[in-house]
Amino acid sequence: MVLVFLETSRLLLRQFTLADVDNLFELHSDPDVMRFLNGGKPTPRDEIEAEVLPRLLGDYVCHGGLGVWAAIERSTGGFLGGFALEPAEGTRRHFEVGWRLRKSAWGKGYGTEGARALIHKAFTDLGAQRVFAETMAVNTASRRVMEKSGLVFVRRFHLTWDDPIDGTEHGEVEYALDRAGWEASRTKATVSFRALRRSDLVALSGWLADPEVHRWWPDPNGLEDLESKYGSCIDGTSATEVSVIEVDAEAAGIIQRYRTADYPDWSEVIERAAPSLVGVTSAGIDYLIGRGEFRNRGIGTRAIAAFTKQLFVEWSDVEAVVVTVQQDNRPSWRALERSGYERIWAGSLASDHPSDAGPAYVLLRRR
Ligand SMILES: CC(C)(COP(=O)(O)OP(=O)(O)OC[C@H]1O[C@@H](n2cnc3c(N)ncnc32)[C@H](O)[C@@H]1OP(=O)(O)O)[C@@H](O)C(=O)NCCC(=O)NCCS
Repeated sequence: MVLVFLETSRLLLRQFTLADVDNLFELHSDPDVMRFLNGGKPTPRDEIEAEVLPRLLGDYVCHGGLGVWAAIERSTGGFLGGFALEPAEGTRRHFEVGWRLRKSAWGKGYGTEGARALIHKAFTDLGAQRVFAETMAVNTASRRVMEKSGLVFVRRFHLTWDDPIDGTEHGEVEYALDRAGWEASRTKATVSFRALRRSDLVALSGWLADPEVHRWWPDPNGLEDLESKYGSCIDGTSATEVSVIEVDAEAAGIIQRYRTADYPDWSEVIERAAPSLVGVTSAGIDYLIGRGEFRNRGIGTRAIAAFTKQLFVEWSDVEAVVVTVQQDNRPSWRALERSGYERIWAGSLASDHPSDAGPAYVLLRRR
């Protein structure tokens, strides 16, 4: 079985195997990919077979399971290139990250998405004190990935090469983040919204499969199920409007809104629980943060607060937003309370939807 190292919304990083000769050969044959690695020279196929691939496989053993990972596009299964996460020589708590993507994968944010996930993994699962990356000073695209993934410029330095390539005279650069900087950056992220697109459904499927989401949002997550549930929202013909929550421009979850009156059965459920809502023009919201690395960082709270504010501006007739939450789902009702919602009712809802099972709260935020 091939070992999967991590998954992001759009990427899967797995170990390389002996079956990756063609993938690596193609990657190493593109002069634009190799430009900043060896001046653009393609690597012969027998060198991939006899040296490059065996070295990658050997590194997993030497580096305690770390090394270079094959990046696979989750929506197509296609090979995109490689990402590296390796302990720096002579240290156990300093890790180097790197990437090399085929040209067809450039310009889509994959570099930043993979780099961020590796940095997160290093600081959480691996107990890193410092994560760094190096490249040639003239490699602007790679430097942008470093900056966008939160690494900070540290130094420019010069190395002596036997066979220097174009641009070596400008030196190499190092970008890094230490643990304190990483902790601080977790509270600074920018949270924004955009409409759900059909191309988000693959990521949404992965988010719904996350046990922490599935527990509270137990919907089927097959692509056909998602098309039938969200297709009309995407096309603008549903009464529910679904937005993607972006964190520093990266998709992290969804948040949706609807007018309660458009769902008479639901309206009845909440009015039965809280009769004070009868006659109030209300809306409802639902939300999920799909990836563990974005949860428990205050992002849910900020998303709910900003989305509610926006809802009141855009739906000027709505007097209150009403949300029902299972009592066991503390992160959810705490995020609501911290966004200005108050608990108005506790009990069991007269609903047979699995996400309403067990004791629930009704929380309300008035305009
Ligand atoms: C519910 C959810 C959106 C909250 O967003 P979040 O960004 O994780 O939450 P926040 O970081 O803003 O924290 C909100 C509160 O939950 C607490 N919390 C969050 N994650 C926690 C965890 N794993 N363990 C314990 N407490 C946690 C926080 O400490 C905070 O409470 P506090 O004010 O008492 O300190 C998110 O956790 C999520 O998507 N969960 C899965 C799907 C879901 O439950 N959707 C809602 C269905 S009603």
